[in-house]
Amino acid sequence: MLQGPAVTLRPPRPKDVAERLALGRDPGIMRMFGADATGWPPLTEAGAGRWVEDIAAHPHAWVVEHEERLLGAVRLDALDQQDARARLAIGLYDPGKLGKGLGRAAVRLALAHAFGTLGLHRVSLRVVAYNARAIRCYAACGFVVEGREREAALVGGERHDDIMMGVLAREFRTNDEQPEAAP
Ligand SMILES: CC(C)(COP(=O)(O)OP(=O)(O)OC[C@H]1O[C@@H](n2cnc3c(N)ncnc32)[C@H](O)[C@@H]1OP(=O)(O)O)[C@@H](O)C(=O)NCCC(=O)NCCS
Repeated sequence: MLQGPAVTLRPPRPKDVAERLALGRDPGIMRMFGADATGWPPLTEAGAGRWVEDIAAHPHAWVVEHEERLLGAVRLDALDQQDARARLAIGLYDPGKLGKGLGRAAVRLALAHAFGTLGLHRVSLRVVAYNARAIRCYAACGFVVEGREREAALVGGERHDDIMMGVLAREFRTNDEQPEAAP
């Protein structure tokens, strides 16, 4: 359990299935994952159950909770102890709660765990280039753009670039204060 003032990262519990089901699959949010907005059937109870089970079975995944309700999930995937690195993935599923700083609060809790408890050196991710909100969120946490895979995503019949981002332990930004300018 990782607790912050705005969000909590916690293991799943049985009532998460109903809360995840209620959030469903908003087409605008699915598009931000690089998925075709029309390519996904509505989320079923069985699908919501599998979503919760996957988090429960994952060694480094948490439900993101806000105001005592399930909001999404965050994971540290492909954890490599030898190189001390992992990949971050996050999804918040309530369109009314996006752009309010909750995503960066969740990412910061996961990164504090990654760089603190797990002792990782770097965390990376990929994001489709039109997902400006996610890119701004990640940048606020210290991620920098490390590369661009051209035309890597096919969304709605159109090709889009993927942006590769990474943050090193020493670059992690725990708050929104701007770094002091050099004298
Ligand atoms: C990506 C995600 C976790 C970010 O969390 P969030 O709470 O929405 O983001 P934050 O509020 O912390 O930061 C968003 C930033 O983008 C800005 N923003 C908000 N809406 C925006 C929009 N439509 N377009 C561009 N920027 C936007 C905000 O002002 C903020 O910028 P700031 O640095 O000036 O404050 C969340 O939006 C999400 O889960 N989206 C749906 C799925 C998704 O995109 N997952 C990531 C796939 S890689």
